Amino acid sequence: MRILSIETSCDETAISIIEALGDFPDAKYEVLGDALFSQVDAHREFGGVFPAVAKREHIVTVLPMLEKALAESKLTYGFTPILTSDQTTEIYNLLSREDGLANQIINWHQAHGRPPIDLIAVTSGPGLEPALWVGINFAKALAYLWNTPVVPVDHMEGHILASLFDGHKLAELKFPALSLLVSGGHTEIILMESWGRYKKVGQTRDDAVGEAFDKVARLIGLPYPGGPRIGALAQIAREKQLPVYANLPRPMIHSGDLDFSFSGLKTAVLYAVKNKTLTEVEKQSLARDFEDAVIEVLIKKLSTAIEDFSAESVIVGGGVSANVHLRENIQNLQSPKQFPHLDVYLPDPYLSTDNSVMIALAGHARAKEALTPEIFNDTIKADGNKTLT
Ligand code: KG4
Ligand code: ZN
Repeated sequence: MRILSIETSCDETAISIIEALGDFPDAKYEVLGDALFSQVDAHREFGGVFPAVAKREHIVTVLPMLEKALAESKLTYGFTPILTSDQTTEIYNLLSREDGLANQIINWHQAHGRPPIDLIAVTSGPGLEPALWVGINFAKALAYLWNTPVVPVDHMEGHILASLFDGHKLAELKFPALSLLVSGGHTEIILMESWGRYKKVGQTRDDAVGEAFDKVARLIGLPYPGGPRIGALAQIAREKQLPVYANLPRPMIHSGDLDFSFSGLKTAVLYAVKNKTLTEVEKQSLARDFEDAVIEVLIKKLSTAIEDFSAESVIVGGGVSANVHLRENIQNLQSPKQFPHLDVYLPDPYLSTDNSVMIALAGHARAKEALTPEIFNDTIKADGNKTLT
């Protein structure tokens, strides 16, 4: 089965083509084509992701990404008859809100024809709805042109599967498994009793971890997205063994449940830097202090969850899983003193932030739920607050 996947939930426009041999979760996969465009430059001047800007960027970039992924895949196209005026009208209807995209895709289709794709997977949530809709409408247009089924995919399920993927197959996961999802929009602990069965057992009550990293970065004058920059500064502080700059709180660390709160920590950083111009060294110390506070809380809650649910595996996913110090601390859980038999899964760094390979994997997991072009049109909708079930 060849799957074409589309990811437009936030500020990455990504399209992949994956070949799956066998059934989920035992299939062998080959990534035939993978194209990703990051919009960070467009969002930097606003200091964060603006939905309307993200939507505009996706509209401009999604077809070039399709072309790039298909070119990389070296798949050969089949013959395409000229579109009838009814078909052209349908494409204009499907892409009525994506200015100019209908024309582009009609011309492209007439020039190239249908590639040998068996299934289209598209992120339907969670994420920014105007951004999600671009991918969904694009998927619907392709499905209509190619007469190919579509499956809507949960972005967070994608992050989980990305962490289990070695480039060719998924890990043989031992259950119960716990997934710590940490991104710009999410901080949650998910219990998995078996493949495809999810239960949220903890979540943030306010800011997501990635959001807190980005906000703290802004407070000390670092450009968006600040998370990776905070991580880099913190590493320097550790290497230089710099003294503590601010004693920061560990919010909810003793709350007894598996929930999180990071807005108070961000406020504590705000007070620590108020009316001050930090030197480079002070910024490094503060970045380390902040990172230590966040990671201590994440590890404490995750450890409690491992005990509570007798978890055999831990999966970490989402953009913040690229953080070096978090990765080290997660690896350390698997130690003789802590959880000697625990399996730990972290994503390959290139799969830790948003991408479409993860959406293809989630599409394969849900392939049986695929909808045919005749019935999907009103069924697939963007759901910004979608939760895993
Ligand atoms: O999963 P992702 O790419 O997009 C969302 O779905 O949100 O996550 C992006 C988030 C941003 O907040 C970014 O600052 C953060 O992940 N991030 C990091 C690191 N790399 C990305 N945070 C801390 N350390 C990093 N190395
Ligand atoms: Zn994400």
